[in-house]
Amino acid sequence: MIYLPIEKLTEGMELARNIPGLNPMLPFAVTGYILNERTINRMMNIGIQGAYIQTELTEGIEPVDIVEPELKAKMLISIQETFDESLKKVTFQTSRQIYENIADVAKTVVMNVLSMDKYLFQMIDIRDYDSYTYSHSLYVGILSVLIGRYIGLSISKLNDLALCGLLHDIGKTDIPIEITNKPGPLTNEEYEIMKQHPSLSYDKLFDCTSISQSVLQGIQTHHEKYDGSGYPFGLAGENIPLYGRILAIADVYDALSATRPYRKA
Ligand SMILES: [Fe+2]
Repeated sequence: MIYLPIEKLTEGMELARNIPGLNPMLPFAVTGYILNERTINRMMNIGIQGAYIQTELTEGIEPVDIVEPELKAKMLISIQETFDESLKKVTFQTSRQIYENIADVAKTVVMNVLSMDKYLFQMIDIRDYDSYTYSHSLYVGILSVLIGRYIGLSISKLNDLALCGLLHDIGKTDIPIEITNKPGPLTNEEYEIMKQHPSLSYDKLFDCTSISQSVLQGIQTHHEKYDGSGYPFGLAGENIPLYGRILAIADVYDALSATRPYRKA
C-alpha cells in the first residue's frame, strides 16, 4: 500500500486502510472501498488529507505507524476530554482524574516511540481530521519525544516532554473561541490576546502538584525563539529551558505540515 495526498487520489482507486470518521470509532470509509469522484470531493470538504491506496507496485509493503489508528482514536478522545474539562474551569488540582488520564496518554506516547525502530516509521496519517487542537497536541507530544529520544534523554524526561506536548496549548481554552478558531490572520489586538496562552497554560496547571516545574516551564516557553524574538519573555538561546526549545521545534514543524483552512501544508 501507499499513502497518497488527497490531490493525487482518483476515481477507481482501492482503499488499503480505513479512513477514520469524525467520530473516531466510526470509519468514514473502509478498506477495500473503491473511490469515486463524489467521495473524493466529500473528503476534501471535510478536511481529510489523504488515504492509503492498494497498488500493484506497493503490494506487500506495510507502513509502520508510531501510533496505531485505534489507539490514536482513544488518545484523541482523552485529550479532547481534558480540554473539555478545562473549558468548564475544572482545575487540575480539583480533578485528579483529569491529570491521571492525560499522564497515561503521555506514557503511552513514550512507550510507542521507544518501541519503534529509530529510523523506520511514518507519522503521515497521524492527523486526518480537523479536530486540529487535539491531534496537534498529540503530534507535538510525539515529535517532542522523538527529538528527546534522538538527543538521549532519560525515560522520565521523555514522559515530561510528552506531557508538555499534550498540554502546551491548554491555556487556549481561556481565550475567546472567535480568536482561537478564526479562519484567517489575527488583528494586532487579537494577536496580543493569543500571545497570553502559554502563560494561561502555565497558570492553569500550576496548582497540580503532580506536574513538575520543568514541565510547567517548558509549556510556558513553547513560543520563545532561539533568536529572542518569541514570547512571552523574549528569552534567547540556552536561556530558554530545554523542554521549551524542543516543544517550539515540534510545534512549528507540526503547524507547517498541517493543512489549515487558510493555507496548505
Ligand atoms: Fe502554542
